[in-house]
Order: sequence, then structure tokens, then C-alpha cells
Amino acid sequence: MAKRLRLGVLASGGGTNLQAIIDRCQESNFPAEIAVVIANNPGAGALERARQAGIPARCINHRDFAGREEFDTALVAALQEAGVELVVLAGFMRIITSVLLEAFPLKIINIHPALLPAFPGLHVQQQAIDYGARFSGCTVHFVDGGVDTGPIIIQAVVPILPGDTADILAGRILIQEHQIYPRAIQLLAEGRVRVAGRTVTIEPPAVPTATSLINPALLG
Ligand code: GRF
Repeated sequence: MAKRLRLGVLASGGGTNLQAIIDRCQESNFPAEIAVVIANNPGAGALERARQAGIPARCINHRDFAGREEFDTALVAALQEAGVELVVLAGFMRIITSVLLEAFPLKIINIHPALLPAFPGLHVQQQAIDYGARFSGCTVHFVDGGVDTGPIIIQAVVPILPGDTADILAGRILIQEHQIYPRAIQLLAEGRVRVAGRTVTIEPPAVPTATSLINPALLG
């Protein structure tokens, strides 16, 4: 098969999104491979998941650097050394600077556990519940200079149900994250993603979702 897109995955935590990507990359016809996993904290489960899968894993601890730019300079060096073509933020809990953005223009993607532009930032499952929203979900988007503001590639919707806690909702959202993040990577690796301003187009077009959702349902 054709050359695979080389991914650099940046993570801070448990790494379930990383695992979903590892699993898809193990399929013989998946058009991407993970070149390196980098965590900013030594205890990140993501590092262990990478090692288990035989993927190069590095800890670059942000606490060892004078500031964000210096940390990002080290990230860029490690990503370039690994020949990374697409940077995948998977639960990476650091704000990135122009150092990283300029080294990988329109080549950095992120997954966020809310239906952007609603609820950017942190603790967003609790925010969605507290707001009384009937739906939340997750969003894969290009990373730009803002917090969770870049052009949207793919989203999944989940209902918010009576009795939901932030953890229950996070778990429901995470199941969808594991579906849409590998899918976004696949579309990018296939060279099917075009960006014009805020609008992302898939060429040739993917099948659009024709179903609308109502919550609570019109029954009962
Ligand atoms: C995910 O909910 C992701 O959307 C958010 O942080 C969480 C990371 O989970 N940014 P994991 O480390 O991939 O399990």
C-alpha cells in the first residue's frame, strides 16, 4: 500500500484516544502510522500504551523548561526528528504556542469533549450539564491560535440524560471520541480534507448524516 501518513501523538493522561488510534493503525489498510508518542508528564498512561504497542514514546516534561515557547521548541525538534507529518493532540493538557503552530501549519488537530463552539476550555461535561443542554458530544478540529477555536472536521452528538454526572457523560462522549478521531485521521491521510476559512470540505464527499435528533424524544 501507499506510504502512510506519519503521526506524532501528544498526550498528558490515560491515552484512551491514543489507544483507539493505535488500534486503527494496526489495520493493514489504514493510511496512517504513529511515528512517536510524546507526553508532557512522566506518569501519563499514554506512554505505557505506546510502549506496549512498540511505538517510540518520549516524555518531554514541560516543568523542565523556562516557558511555553522553550517547551514547544523541544516538541518541534522531537516531532521533526521522528519525521512527523500530522500532530495529533489526544488529551494534551498544554496550551500550545506559535512555535508549534508555525512549524506545522494546518497540520495539528485536537479532540474536544463538547460540541464546539459550545463549551470550549476545561470541565466541559459539567458545564454542559449545569447549563441544561440536551445534547453534547465531541469535536475534532484543526488547531489555531485560540483555545478550541479552529476549523471543525467532524463531530459526534450524544444526549445528556436525566441523572448524568460529569463522569457518566464523559464516558458516553469518550465512546464517540474513539470513533471520530481515527476517522478524521483517515480522511486527512487520504488527502480528502480541504480547508477554506472556517469551512472544511471532504473530497470526494463523505456520506452526510441525514438524521436529526430530538431530546427528549416525542414519545412517552
Ligand atoms: C478526552 O475526553 C479528550 O477529549 C480530552 O481529554 C480526554 C483525554 O482522554 N481533551 P484520553 O487521555 O484520550 O483517555
